[in-house]
Amino acid sequence: MHKIIRQLEEKRERARLGGGQRRIDAQHAKGKLTARERIKMLFDKDSFEEWDMFMEHRCTDFGMAENSIPGDGVVTGFGTINGRQVFVFSQDFTVFGGSLSASHAMKICKIMDQAMKVGAPVIGLNDSGGARIQEGVDSLAAYGEVFQRNVMASGVIPQISMIMGPCAGGAVYSPAMTDFIFMVEDSSYMFVTGPDVVKTVTHEDVSLEELGGATTHTSRSGVADKSFNNDVDALLFLRRFMDFLPANNTEKPPVRETPDAASRVEMSLDTLIPDNPNKPYDMMELIRKVVDEGDFFELQPQYAGNILIGLARMEGSTVGIVANQPMVLAGCLDINASIKAARFVRFCDCFNIPVVTLVDVPGFMPGTAQEYGGIIKHGAKLLYAFAEATVPKVTLITRKAYGGAYDVMSSKHLRGDVNFAWPTAEIAVMGPKGAVEIIFRKDIGDDKKIAARTEEYRNQFANPFVAGSRGFIDDVIMPHNTRARICRSLRMLQNKLVENPWKKHGNIPL
Ligand code: HXC
Repeated sequence: MHKIIRQLEEKRERARLGGGQRRIDAQHAKGKLTARERIKMLFDKDSFEEWDMFMEHRCTDFGMAENSIPGDGVVTGFGTINGRQVFVFSQDFTVFGGSLSASHAMKICKIMDQAMKVGAPVIGLNDSGGARIQEGVDSLAAYGEVFQRNVMASGVIPQISMIMGPCAGGAVYSPAMTDFIFMVEDSSYMFVTGPDVVKTVTHEDVSLEELGGATTHTSRSGVADKSFNNDVDALLFLRRFMDFLPANNTEKPPVRETPDAASRVEMSLDTLIPDNPNKPYDMMELIRKVVDEGDFFELQPQYAGNILIGLARMEGSTVGIVANQPMVLAGCLDINASIKAARFVRFCDCFNIPVVTLVDVPGFMPGTAQEYGGIIKHGAKLLYAFAEATVPKVTLITRKAYGGAYDVMSSKHLRGDVNFAWPTAEIAVMGPKGAVEIIFRKDIGDDKKIAARTEEYRNQFANPFVAGSRGFIDDVIMPHNTRARICRSLRMLQNKLVENPWKKHGNIPL
C-alpha cells in the first residue's frame, strides 16, 4: 500500500512538472504561464479537479516508447468560476509542444462528453504545436473526434477558446467551431499554414505575427473576438465573461443584482442626435447610458466598427446588444458587419440571451467591392439570424432606418417583439435626396423644385409616424426614458415562448 501511494505521488509529481523545469522556464521567459498556472488563475480557489493525470501516449515510433510524460501534454478537468461549474482543457506546451496525440485528444473528448451530459460550458486554453507528428494519422483521427464533439456541443453548451500560444494547421478548426475565440497578444497565433509554406506557395513574405497574430485576427480576419495584453489579463477577463453566460441552452443566463434602477432617466440622451441628419454621433454613448452601470462588454471591437456587438445587463439579466455605429461608414451594413452581427445574434438565440437592437442605418453599403464580395449572401445572414431568433427582441430606431436595412435590423416584420422609435427616427425606403432624384428625375436641374420636393419628402417620411400608423413601431419614446422602456419590455418578455417549425436544420446563406 505504502509503495503504491509513493508511486502515485511520484507520478503526480512528474505530471505536475510537465516537460521539466527547463521548458517551464522557457515558457515563463516568453511571458507565458504554464497550463496548470493558467487553470489556477481561471478557477475559484481549490475548486479545480483534475482528470486523467496519469494518461500517457501509446506511440512507439521515433523513440517515443521511452519518451512519455504522465498527462501527455494537456491538463483536463472541471471546477467552478465564480461558483458555477465549468470544464476545461489546458494544453501544456512544455510537453511535446502541447501537440495532440490520440491520448491527449481522448482526454479532451472525455471532458467534452462529460460537459454535455451535465450541461456545463467548456473552455479550451490552446497552446499547441498541432498534430503530434510522431503519431501520424492517429493524431489526425483524434482531431476529428474533437471536431465532431465541437459540432455536437454547438448551441448546447457554451464553448470558449482562449488561444495562448501556437495554434496551426487543421488544429485551428476546433477553436473555429467554438462560440468565441480570444487571443493573447504577441504570444499567440493561428493559421492554416505557417509563413514558410506561404512563402513557398504564394511567394509572400509574411511574419508569424502578421499572418496569424492577435492583431490580424481581431482587426483583419475577424476570426478572433478580442485580444489581451497577457495571460493574466486574458484569464481574469474569462472569469468575468463566463458570468454573462448560461451553463447550457436550457437555462437562462444568471441574474446579477444591480444598484442601477431600471427607471433611471438619462436626460443627456435627448440631445444625442445632432440636428444635421448627416452628422455622426457615438452609438456607444447610448449603449453605455442604457445598460446596467454602463458596463458594456464589447466583442470584436476592432473589426467592422460600423456595427457594435457585445454583452451587457439590463435589470441584472444578460442581454446581447447589436447596434449600428454612425461614426464608422455612417453605420452602413457591409459584408463584415453583417457576418459579425449575424453570428452574434445566433449565439444569443442559442443561449436564451435577449437581443436589444439599436438602429441607425442608412442602408447596405454600395459598390463593386461589396457586390463582388457577395453582400447579397452575407447581408442575408443577418436577416436570417434575426428572423430565425426566438429570444426576446427589443428594437429601437434612433435615427435612420432605410431600405432593406430597416427590415433586416430586427424589424417588426422579423418578429421583433417590441419596436420603439425616438422622435428623430426616419423610416423610409431611402433618404430624401436619393428618393427625390429618382421619383422626380425630370425635375433634376431645377434646384428650386428639387429642394421643394426634398422638403416635402422629408416632412412626409423622415419621421416615425408613418411606420407608427401601420403598427410597425409600437411606440415613439423620449430618449431620456430609453432604459426604463427597454427594461420594462424585457421584463414583459421574460416568459416569451415561440417555437420555429420542426426541421432538421435551416439552410442559412453561408
Ligand atoms: C510533436 C512537437 C510538435 C508536434 C512541437 N513539438 N510541435 N512535437 N509534434 N507537432 C515539440 C518540439 O519537438 C520541441 O520538443 C517542443 O515541442 C517545443 O517546440 P520548439 O520547436 O522548440 O518550440 P518553438 O521554437 O516555440 O516553436 C513552436 C512551433 C514549432 C512553431 C509550434 O514547434 C513547430 O513548428 N512545430 C510543428 C508545427 C506543425 O507543423 N504542426 C503540425 C501542424 S498540422 P523538445 O523536446 O525539443 O522540447 C496539424 C494538422 C492538424 O496540426 C490536422 C487536424 C485535422
